[in-house]
Amino acid sequence: MRTPVIAGNWKLFKNLSETRELLQELAPRVAGVSGVEIIVAPVFTALTTAVQAAMGTTIRVAAQDCFWEEEGAFTGEVAPGLLKDAGCSHVIIGHSERRQYFGETDATVNRKIKAACAAGLTVLFCVGETLAEREAGTTFTVIETQLRTGLAGVTAADLQRLIIAYEPVWAIGTGKTASNEQAQEVHARIRTLLVSLYDQAAADALRILYGGSVKPENIRGLMGQQDIDGALVGGASLKADSFAAIVRFQE
Ligand code: G3H
Repeated sequence: MRTPVIAGNWKLFKNLSETRELLQELAPRVAGVSGVEIIVAPVFTALTTAVQAAMGTTIRVAAQDCFWEEEGAFTGEVAPGLLKDAGCSHVIIGHSERRQYFGETDATVNRKIKAACAAGLTVLFCVGETLAEREAGTTFTVIETQLRTGLAGVTAADLQRLIIAYEPVWAIGTGKTASNEQAQEVHARIRTLLVSLYDQAAADALRILYGGSVKPENIRGLMGQQDIDGALVGGASLKADSFAAIVRFQE
């Protein structure tokens, strides 16, 4: 009942010609796939190029971050409305790399989520624990705090514009995927928390993606889990063949 989402986070890779090329390669490989939402997230400078290259396909374009104000003296920032204006439909917020290297906090994530929803973007809201947190047995408390703070003041209507991505930090770019059971366990806990924050219907409708070393070889097992509704893919989204194989997980 929840439409799966496969999103490719290209991180700091692909210039303009590479963006065009990757989308030209990807489009025919995913043409004809129905019932899966396909998203790619290039760097800011390649967003309009990606939007143009994806025209006429079912591929949607996301930014990798945004600011919370719509305009003002904020050198270097990009407003949600500008992303919308550039043709983006989605934005990733709270990725662990932003939390780890760029001072992103649960509070700034919360401001960004509300601003992005207000601008009409769909938010891919990332949460996840570090290895130290998992080993200390605090996985769920960490994720609960990220969710409670990140979603503070986010209305039930806004929630419909939200997709959650659970990305254990220790699984990102490391080749170590969480096992199907480890991922499912966290996804189920996230959904239960959403029931208490909103209600059962809202929690049932919300897509929760898994991210962290997703590849064609492990996507089927992950998607077979009850509460895993898609994937946020890093490395394997940089090649058309591997990303298309992930998109076509049902075949
Ligand atoms: O946003 C994507 C994630 O950080 C996963 O990256 O698939 O390279 O592990 P990865």
